[in-house]
Amino acid sequence: MIRSIQGAQRLDSRGHLTVQVDLITDRGTFRAIVPSGASTGAKEAIELRDGDSSAYGGKGVQKAVTNIGLVIGPALVQSGLKVYTDQKMIDCLLKHLDGTENKSKLGANAILGVMPFFDVLNGGVHSGNKMGFQETMIAPVGASSFTQAVRMGCEVYQQLKKVIIEKFGPSAIGIGDEGGFAPPISQPHEGLDLLVEAVSLAGYTGRIKFALDPASTEFYSDGIYDIGFKDDKPSLQKPKHLTDLYRSLLQNYPIVLLEDPFAETDWGSWAEFNKECPVELVGDDLLATNTKYVQKANDTRACNSMLLKINQIGTISEAIEAANLAYSFDWSVFVSHRSGETTDDFIADLAVGLRTGHLKSGAPCRGERIAKYNRLMDIEADLLGKGEECLYAGSQFRVASKY
Ligand code: PGA
Ligand code: ZN
Repeated sequence: MIRSIQGAQRLDSRGHLTVQVDLITDRGTFRAIVPSGASTGAKEAIELRDGDSSAYGGKGVQKAVTNIGLVIGPALVQSGLKVYTDQKMIDCLLKHLDGTENKSKLGANAILGVMPFFDVLNGGVHSGNKMGFQETMIAPVGASSFTQAVRMGCEVYQQLKKVIIEKFGPSAIGIGDEGGFAPPISQPHEGLDLLVEAVSLAGYTGRIKFALDPASTEFYSDGIYDIGFKDDKPSLQKPKHLTDLYRSLLQNYPIVLLEDPFAETDWGSWAEFNKECPVELVGDDLLATNTKYVQKANDTRACNSMLLKINQIGTISEAIEAANLAYSFDWSVFVSHRSGETTDDFIADLAVGLRTGHLKSGAPCRGERIAKYNRLMDIEADLLGKGEECLYAGSQFRVASKY
């Protein structure tokens, strides 16, 4: 039973304010802190910001905190709903309290923050170098356990640091919003070449695959992609050229996942690419964790996987509904942190609970990123300690929900 709910303004990993919620129940007090994106899609639920430029550059969330204290909290207490069993009804109540399609009245940050235990969770707009593509990832598919995968990831990360120092000097190892390095490179193949070398030095060639999230909505306008948008001169590409670039990268590097290769409004390019796509094709900004767009993407055959970011849609129930709809189309679901994160580790449990098989939480660096990896190692240890069979998804990450 909920006794009271208290909101507060706290910091996210970029030093911007975000919403923290304490939920006081008959079984104790539970705290959640909401993350925030930088490469946000237009279809996402609205994050309510104060807009008062005299404090925190207008990024305060006092209005959302006030909504928790005056609207959301009292309504939940009065409802008598149980936080342990009535999640769907709680989310339904929150949705109706807001009453808008994109949660603009109360703010998706406020709504998400009220969930007990469960709060959500580098190039491009995540760093200051000239790399247009936002994320270049490594996936230790050849590990035998989650804990071993963490070891492999950390060892490659440390080798990568050495490779970057050797090539660009010690001042090049500064990191971006998601804990990854941001060396002075601008082309996707340069990043992938650095990874190939680091993986080889760590002794894991063949056991670690790669993934890319160009976050291309950030550099798309009027049918043209500018992958040099952070460089001194533009590099304007038609969708067909970008498609050719992806096909060549897929041929030359062990890439297993491609997220947002095309912009959130460029549905035609997605569908064309997906006609012959050997890898997991993940919709982030394209889908915004929203059943409406998941349905549209299935109807148009635009992708084969959904990125799950709870605060793109605003409630856990709607996010789970979107995940279940994606599963019903035989897609996979990929759980994600946000670039502006908090130390809340809920998405680790969510990924396990929904059997998504994979999650992304940045580099093995920065407290708010490793909180999720540490939690997943705890879950693995807990399961093993209870004698449970504990399978690491590894190369089966796309089909984990079927086990
Ligand atoms: P965001 O980036 O949190 O800035 O939206 C994460 C992503 O694009 O996957
Ligand atoms: Zn993305």
